[in-house]
Amino acid sequence: MTLSKDWQTLYINVNLATMTDGANSYGEIINGALAISDGKIAWLGKQSDLSAHFSGKNDSRVVDIIDGKGQWITPGLIDCHTHLVYGGNRANEFEMRLQGKSYQEIANAGGGIVSTVSATRKASEEELIASALLRLTALHHQGVTTVEIKSGYGLDTENEIKMLKVAGFLANELPVTIKRTFLGAHALPTEYKDNADAYLDIVCDEMLPRVVSEKLADAVDVFCEGIGFSLEQTKRVFDAAKIYNLPIKVHAEQLSNLGASELAANYDALSSDHIEFLDESGIKAMKKSGMTAVLLPGAFYFLRETQLPPIELLRKYQVPMAVATDANPGTSPIHNIHLMLNMACTLFRLTPSEALAGITCYGAKALGLSESKGQLAVGYDADIALWNIEQPAELCYQFGVNPLSRLIQNGQQVLMNESA
Ligand code: NIG
Ligand code: FE
Repeated sequence: MTLSKDWQTLYINVNLATMTDGANSYGEIINGALAISDGKIAWLGKQSDLSAHFSGKNDSRVVDIIDGKGQWITPGLIDCHTHLVYGGNRANEFEMRLQGKSYQEIANAGGGIVSTVSATRKASEEELIASALLRLTALHHQGVTTVEIKSGYGLDTENEIKMLKVAGFLANELPVTIKRTFLGAHALPTEYKDNADAYLDIVCDEMLPRVVSEKLADAVDVFCEGIGFSLEQTKRVFDAAKIYNLPIKVHAEQLSNLGASELAANYDALSSDHIEFLDESGIKAMKKSGMTAVLLPGAFYFLRETQLPPIELLRKYQVPMAVATDANPGTSPIHNIHLMLNMACTLFRLTPSEALAGITCYGAKALGLSESKGQLAVGYDADIALWNIEQPAELCYQFGVNPLSRLIQNGQQVLMNESA
């Protein structure tokens, strides 16, 4: 093979966790090299195979050669489920829960999601950008190059649109790819209490057409739950999303089993998220339609849930498992993807390669990005992270010390940490 075009950057003396083998392995290439051209991965392999393409340090076809000194490269990390844009916080509810109130009791008493709705409605775009930027910066410094952000704390047309626009503006502030999901059906706003159908009329007939015409979302999500929307109501939103060909995601079987994952499978949804109460028939339906299961260990931990997601059955049916922060003020005020890796292993008993797949190749799959992100492969976006670690399992094993030494997004170095 000869070089078809010049390489902008060549990383040598690196080990690669390509994540091209799903959760089965890290897809390791030891003593490897990786080349970038035009923002894409142009070549990767054993360094010993590099000589066929590259004649050494003076090869003028390569602009920049970086000696990785034995560090590991993974795909840039993907947080495929967040609610990063919101006003206020819910530390008061945290205190109430410590005094014995449950998440559902607080929600039913007018707290929970709708209290964040009030704060989000009051906040200006600038205020929302500033607070979300702090959270996004934390993820970015941990090696995250792609983040999904949901609306769902506006719950009226103007404020849902405001949230989605703010989510989009964040991409001008930080070199992170943002995918936006419209979650108008997150909770019933107080002004529509006892009138869910009238609210869903607004979601389907007013909000969604605006979101589509202004190109503000890549997917549609619904919180299908006793304190959210029923199966029948969820179906209405899915039907509306289908009209506009928007991919579907669902908050499903988080607190009870309503069958939302199976319903979503009938709509060829991308993913079903949370799923602590998912059963075997739901898993079979997800497998059949090629859905991804998104595990959210932060919410499991923060709510002190005891029902574990059905990991063994998901493995048995080979449903891909993504892992995400679910960063939000109510159930997962946690903006740490490394901690999610650790929790996925300690709480859910994922293997480290399953957990890493959850925030790389399967995180990409949950966003419909399997063909461009989440793997080290030729032609994929050059979103890559360099880590000062001796083995990939270290990323799951410890957190709090950040071993990220470089972050590259679309071929451009966007972070460098000499001390890592
Ligand atoms: O993913 N489950 C519903 N939505 C969020 C929680 C939102 C909130 O409590 O503010 C979640 O857990
Ligand atoms: Fe969520």
